[in-house]
Amino acid sequence: MSDPLPLVIANHKANLTYSEFEIWVNKVGPVAKDFEGTVVVCPSSPFLAQALILTQAQSWNLKIGAQDISRFDIGAYTGEVAASQLAGICKYAIVGHSERRKNFNETDEILDQKVQMAKKVNLTPIFCVQDENTKIPEGIEVVAYEPVFSIGTGNPDTPQNARAVSAKIQEKGDYIILYGGSVKGDNVKNFVEKSVIDGVLIGSASLDPQDFIEILQSIY
Ligand code: PGA
Repeated sequence: MSDPLPLVIANHKANLTYSEFEIWVNKVGPVAKDFEGTVVVCPSSPFLAQALILTQAQSWNLKIGAQDISRFDIGAYTGEVAASQLAGICKYAIVGHSERRKNFNETDEILDQKVQMAKKVNLTPIFCVQDENTKIPEGIEVVAYEPVFSIGTGNPDTPQNARAVSAKIQEKGDYIILYGGSVKGDNVKNFVEKSVIDGVLIGSASLDPQDFIEILQSIY
């Protein structure tokens, strides 16, 4: 991954209408331009191409990420979006989010296949793990530590524990490590620490553009 750190990912999940998303991009884009790291937005998949068009037109430093990719290549897979279709639009793809493991029964084997698909087309997988014991596929550069008890609960992990788990994950490979789980403007600074936790993955607090901007402005 050659993008500068810290790496801040907004994961909108299945939220926001298109017009809400357009407002979001128009507000966050100019702030992302001055951010001395990398900002990635992962909107609902129908909005991906327009997100790229808007950011390129304005020369904003906003990268586009997919929330998921198919484990299959292009072909007869109704409802799926193949990595090779996303490659011209996205730079990143979230893989292995605990909501997908839980609600869509994604196994280690399925996640391995998704990672291989992403790597084939130079999409950088942001691979989510729930703890230091979660299996990490070959070829991963960016790992997001996201304890399940912290996701969407308003109950973040302690910075001490997040750092301890990140250090254990680092022992397995030279990863860029992100923390995710109830990150907000008033706690982001406690998590991001150079060479221990290199960025954050944000769900709920990324939906309101002003809240997200506050996170970007509070990170240093
Ligand atoms: P949250 O979600 O910020 O709402 O806790 C984080 C995530 O799911 O990545």
